[in-house]
Amino acid sequence: MAVQISPSILSADFARLAEAVAAVSNADWIHVDVMDNHFVPNLTLGLPVVESLLKATSTPLDCHLMIEDPDRWAPAYAEAGAGSVTVHAEAARAPVRTLRQIRAAGARAGFALNPATAVEPYEDLLGEIDMLLLMTVEPGFGGQKFLDVVLPKIRRARALIERHGGEVWLQVDGGVSAETIERCAEAGADVFVAGNAVYGAADPARAVDELRALAAEA
Ligand code: DX5
Ligand code: ZN
Repeated sequence: MAVQISPSILSADFARLAEAVAAVSNADWIHVDVMDNHFVPNLTLGLPVVESLLKATSTPLDCHLMIEDPDRWAPAYAEAGAGSVTVHAEAARAPVRTLRQIRAAGARAGFALNPATAVEPYEDLLGEIDMLLLMTVEPGFGGQKFLDVVLPKIRRARALIERHGGEVWLQVDGGVSAETIERCAEAGADVFVAGNAVYGAADPARAVDELRALAAEA
């Protein structure tokens, strides 16, 4: 399993997003949290900002849609050029169709589960998914405390993925830091979102390297 780091610009200066993205050119992805103030109690950015970011960086964008009605909006992010588009199980009404539309538009299809959402009911969807995202905080805000209660689900998700050929990436998002990333890696995650741990650091690029090394050693 190759370790990948996806810094979340939710913790960056929103008036200087291009600089924030350029500061972590050693990252594998840039994680973009799209929030609509309905699915989660916070409002961030949408497609126009993603389109501008795509022009500002060659690092692929990992768009995490925390919005109602993702079936309506997700394909446009893929069509715009996002490398990965993730929709929530709790919000999607036609996840198979939406995941297929994301793939058809040339992006990787991601499927996200909140901390209290079980992974087992989605086993049959693994063939439609390129990345499973397990939230390790309740979605909505950066800088929250990592929820250890999700660790057994990470292990079970890894086992399901291996049973289905091992090709689906397993991403964790929320409270991932130098203190918690090894636990996530040991449990089977291979893609790590980090907001506060990267953009709260004095040297964000160095924080990316340090997180990568910790996950790779675990
Ligand atoms: C939370 C977002 C996360 C957030 C993570 O709802 O999905 O991507 O930016 O931030 P940290 O790493 O600070 O918990
Ligand atoms: Zn996120």
